[in-house]
Amino acid sequence: MFPREKIIFSGVQPTGELHLGNYLGALKNWSALQEHNRCFFCVVDYHAITIPYQAKVMSKRVLEAALDLLAVGLDPEKCVIFVQSQVPEHTELSWILSTLTPLGELERMTQYKDKASEHRQNINAGLLTYPVLMAADILLYQTDLVPVGEDQTQHVELTRILARKFNNTFGEYFKEPKVYEATVARVMSLLEPNKKMSKSLGPNHCLSLNDPPEVIRRKIAKAVTDEGGPNGERVSGGRNLLNLFKVLSEDKPLKKELEEQYQAGELKYAEFKPLLADTIIKVLEPIQARRAELATKPQELQKILLDGRDKARLIAQKTLRDVKERIGLA
Ligand code: TRP
Repeated sequence: MFPREKIIFSGVQPTGELHLGNYLGALKNWSALQEHNRCFFCVVDYHAITIPYQAKVMSKRVLEAALDLLAVGLDPEKCVIFVQSQVPEHTELSWILSTLTPLGELERMTQYKDKASEHRQNINAGLLTYPVLMAADILLYQTDLVPVGEDQTQHVELTRILARKFNNTFGEYFKEPKVYEATVARVMSLLEPNKKMSKSLGPNHCLSLNDPPEVIRRKIAKAVTDEGGPNGERVSGGRNLLNLFKVLSEDKPLKKELEEQYQAGELKYAEFKPLLADTIIKVLEPIQARRAELATKPQELQKILLDGRDKARLIAQKTLRDVKERIGLA
């Protein structure tokens, strides 16, 4: 099952509403990991400001992201939930690590290249040094495993390089963290099933964790089911919907029956779609209820984040003291 008693760190950007793909692809896993491991989950606001954003709404977004983490089942009694900018050791260690980072390593990061071409008007140094801050996030807690999606594995690899370089230069200190690869469901767009579900495709491609039942029913009703993407790729919308049902439902015999119908080309979408919508609604109900309840208690949320900050900071401060001593700045 899960590796026991490992130190786990992951970060989430405060960039707006989560969707079902985020939940099934990452967050659902995080809740499982917290049962047997020491987990740190961080809202990475310093990373979020590397692309254009509105200062007025940022603090609200950070709180919303924290609410999301709690709503999907992360339990502050079992893991540490905190905000990156509230623990200044993250940026401090990031500076130190930046002096060990070859510029060439940063320039070849694919996320940097993508974001630089997307934000040509704002290619700031933070966009380039983003992975160094991420390495600091991870290394501060002597992390063993980092549950992230495929798009972030290159950054974790850089983190390992920096840990090794630090150890070689100043003596063995950091663990080399690994990506935690979970078997996660890949949830595809409802309208273009050859693409990953993503908010940037548009609201009807996506099921938001906050969508009310009638919106879910409407979106599923409109979801494409046919074979083949717009460019002739062999991607099936029907397969995507059935997979969604299979990860969300606990009714094994029904799952088997629907799979057989699908394979025989006899799945009746007019019946299956409402069933899928109901299943999604049922899974989201407790998440939405928890979120709504917590949203009425802003003080409780603040307290959770301050507690998280204090717990994280205790460890981060120790690491930074050790690091400064080793690099000759104590
Ligand atoms: N870069 C990650 C993302 O965009 C977020 C992140 C920041 C992170 N720091 C991290 C993930 C540390 C894992 C560990 O998804």
